[in-house]
Amino acid sequence: MKLGKLLYTGKAKDIYETDHPDEVMIRFRDDITAGDGEKRDRIPMKGYYNSIISAKFFEVLEAAGIKTHYISLIKPGYILARKLEMIPIEVITRNIATGSLTRRYPFKEGQEFKEPIIQIDYKSDEYGDPMLNDDIAIALGLTTMEELDKIRKITLKVNKTLKGFLQEKGLLLPDFKLEFGRYNSRLLVGDEISPDTCRLWEMKTRKTLDKDLFRRGEGDIIEAYRRVASLILNEEDKK
Ligand code: C5P
Repeated sequence: MKLGKLLYTGKAKDIYETDHPDEVMIRFRDDITAGDGEKRDRIPMKGYYNSIISAKFFEVLEAAGIKTHYISLIKPGYILARKLEMIPIEVITRNIATGSLTRRYPFKEGQEFKEPIIQIDYKSDEYGDPMLNDDIAIALGLTTMEELDKIRKITLKVNKTLKGFLQEKGLLLPDFKLEFGRYNSRLLVGDEISPDTCRLWEMKTRKTLDKDLFRRGEGDIIEAYRRVASLILNEEDKK
């Protein structure tokens, strides 16, 4: 496997050119940050687990007919993906109230919503990822009403698919974040879907198995990520 030029380096991933102009290699690093990079650390094996968990989630979505940037898991830590023109928004779906939602609004921690809540934030370190509404997103030139409608439709399908898949594995999906990008004239789900970007709770105990362990400075993060991997991957995937 030959990595091309480094195109972009994020807080936890690097994106490299490949021999193919329409494809990129995503390297999942062991770096972890929280609170807009205020809290940071390196956790050995985190990149390994996030890449195999993301690959599995993307495969589940593709099998449900949802178009994503995912092509293949080259080896743990490395995902080959379609090169997208990223839209700088973070699309957060919430099934259970927790995190910033209970800090900002009078929802009760752990309250389950009848219908999922979709929240769209502007992905900008400079402005602190503020929440958008449709008019602001369009006025900023980030997207169009038509594209936002498509994003919400795909997001609801992703939620239904992942929630159903995880339920069978004994996991709850309180919330998660998606990113989208344009590929030719299509809209694809991009970035990663992992315990860094989702909340995942053990169904029976509501025990946290995601990045909240790091945010709160408690528990063995890798033990939790390994547990998620072992619950969602079947024997064939682990080889
Ligand atoms: O912090 P908050 O409660 O708003 O996060 C909601 C969900 O979105 C969580 O699953 C979190 O991991 C994810 N998220 C993310 N990247 C961000 C903000 C939130 O992956 N920049």
